[in-house]
Amino acid sequence: MRIAVVGSGYVGLVAAACFAELGHEVISIDNDTSKIEMLQRGEVPIHEEFLPELLQRHRGKQLQFSSELPEAVRKSQAIFIAVGTPSTVHGDADLSYVEQVSREVAGAIDGYKIVVEKSTVPVFTSHWIRRVMLLDGADADSFDVASNPEFLREGTAVGDFLYPDRIVVGADTERCATLLRQIYEPLTSGEYYNRADIIPNTTKAKTPPQIIVTSTKSAELIKHASNAFLATKISFINAVANICEAVGADIKEVCQGIGTDSRIGTRFLNPGIGYGGSCFPKDLKAFSSVARETGYDFRLLQEVMSINADQRARFLRKVRSALWTLKGKKLAVLGLAFKGGTDDIRESPAIEIVRSLLKEGCEIRAFDPAACDRSREVLTEDGICYKASAYEAAHQADAMLILTDWPEFAQLDLPRLKTVMTYPIIIDGRNLYDPRTMAAAGFIYSSVGRADVQTPVARTNGKAEKTATAAPGKNQ
Ligand code: UDX
Ligand code: UDX
Repeated sequence: MRIAVVGSGYVGLVAAACFAELGHEVISIDNDTSKIEMLQRGEVPIHEEFLPELLQRHRGKQLQFSSELPEAVRKSQAIFIAVGTPSTVHGDADLSYVEQVSREVAGAIDGYKIVVEKSTVPVFTSHWIRRVMLLDGADADSFDVASNPEFLREGTAVGDFLYPDRIVVGADTERCATLLRQIYEPLTSGEYYNRADIIPNTTKAKTPPQIIVTSTKSAELIKHASNAFLATKISFINAVANICEAVGADIKEVCQGIGTDSRIGTRFLNPGIGYGGSCFPKDLKAFSSVARETGYDFRLLQEVMSINADQRARFLRKVRSALWTLKGKKLAVLGLAFKGGTDDIRESPAIEIVRSLLKEGCEIRAFDPAACDRSREVLTEDGICYKASAYEAAHQADAMLILTDWPEFAQLDLPRLKTVMTYPIIIDGRNLYDPRTMAAAGFIYSSVGRADVQTPVARTNGKAEKTATAAPGKNQ
C-alpha cells in the first residue's frame, strides 16, 4: 500500500517507519523543512528505541521524506494525519493544524483515498475533516475519513506499534475499513512475527493482535477514554500513596495486593510526581471540554487533574522537609524528561519541579541521559547547570532528587554516590529504590507512599557532624 503520513513528530515518524517495516511504501511529510532535511541526511530527531534501526533499514527504499504534501497525497492511497493537536487556552484541542492539512489534502485529491486521523482528536473531528474537504472542492465519492488512534508510549513506541494489544479502526464505510484492514494485515495475520529480521520485543508475545472496527465517533472516543482511564489509574494510586504516608503503610505492598486482582492489573499503578507528557495533560483537558460541550460535567476528570497537580506540590514539600531551607542548596537532579526512555520534556513534572526549586534559590546540577539539550532550550533561568553523569551531578550536592524513571537511575553505585555527595540525602519521586536498601547504605531517603528513612548518618567525607544538624526532616 502507498501511504503518506503527515507530521513527522513522535507519533508520525514512528508510524511512518513502522508502516515501512510492514512492507508499505511510505512518504513521511512535515512542513518543517529542516526536520525533513535532517531525516533525509539519515539523522534521527528524537530519542526512541529501535527508531534509528528502522530509519536506517528503510530510508531511501520503502520510506521517503518530503515537504511536498500535494505530491505525496497524489501518490498515496491512505493519508494519515499525525500533526500536533495542542491545548488552546480554554483547554480544548487546537485543531487548526488538522484543518490546514485537511484543506491541503482536499486540493490534491485525484482518486479514491482514505484520510485517517492518527493524532488524538475529539469526537466529531472526522465529521469536520470531511466537511472542510467537501467545502474545498473534494468530490464526495473520492475519499472517506477514518479514525485510527495510536496507543504508543514514548520510549517504547516502536514496540507498541509492532506488538499492539489491539488495533482500533473507526470507519463508516466498508471500503474504507477494508483498506485499513489491509494496511495492518501483516500484524493481524501474524505474518510479520514469522519474519527473521523483526524488531524484537521481550515483554510481548508474538501473538497477532485483534483489529476492532468501530464507527469513527466510537474510535475517537476510545482514544480519549483510554488516556483518561490510564491517567485516572495514576491519580488514584497517587491518592492512595498519600494515605499510605499518613498511616505508615507501604504503597508498594498495597499495589501488589490490589494489582494482582486481574480486574485491576498492576500496570499504570506506579505512584510518583504525577503524569506529564504531550498526551495525558492535554487529552484530559480536551476530554473534559468535549464532555462539557455535550452537556455532561465529567467531574471525575477535574479531580484526576487536581490530584496530579497536587502531587508535584507534595513532592516540593518533601524536599523542604528533608532540607529545611532551600536557598543556596546544591541539588543533584536526576531526570528531566517526562518519563524514562525519551528525550521529550513536554509537560514534564521534572521541569516544573526544577523551575520551582530555582525560584526558591536552589543551585541545580541536572543530568538526564537524553533530555539535557531540550531542557537547555526551556530552562533558561540562572542557577542550573548540566552534568554528564549522575555522579557528576551528585558531586558535593546537599541532596539528590530522582525525577524521571530511567532504568539506569535505579542501578546507581550507592557507596560511590555517598562518597561524592556532601550529605547522603535522596528524595525519590519515582520510588526506584527499596527504603531498606537505602537505610543499609546509610542514606536519608524519602519516596512516595512509603515511610521515610531517617538513618543516623554515618561519616561521609568527614562531614558527619554537619550532616546530623543540617538535614533533619521536619517530622524527626
Ligand atoms: C501529535 C499530537 O500532539 C498528539 O495528540 C497525537 O496523538 C499524535 O500527534 P506528536 O507526534 O508528539 O503528537 O507531535 P509533534 O512532535 O508536535 O509532531 C507534529 C509534527 O507535525 C511536527 O513535526 C510539525 O512540524 C508537523 N506539522 C505540524 C506539519 O507537518 N504540518 C502542520 O500543519 C503542523
Ligand atoms: C500515553 C499513552 O500511554 C499512550 O497509549 C498514547 O496514547 C500516548 O500517551 P506516553 O505519554 O508516551 O503515552 O507515556 P506513558 O507511559 O503513558 O506515561 C505518561 C505519564 O504518566 C508519564 O509522565 C509517566 O511517568 C506517568 N506514569 C505512568 C506514572 O506516573 N505512573 C504510571 O504507573 C505510569
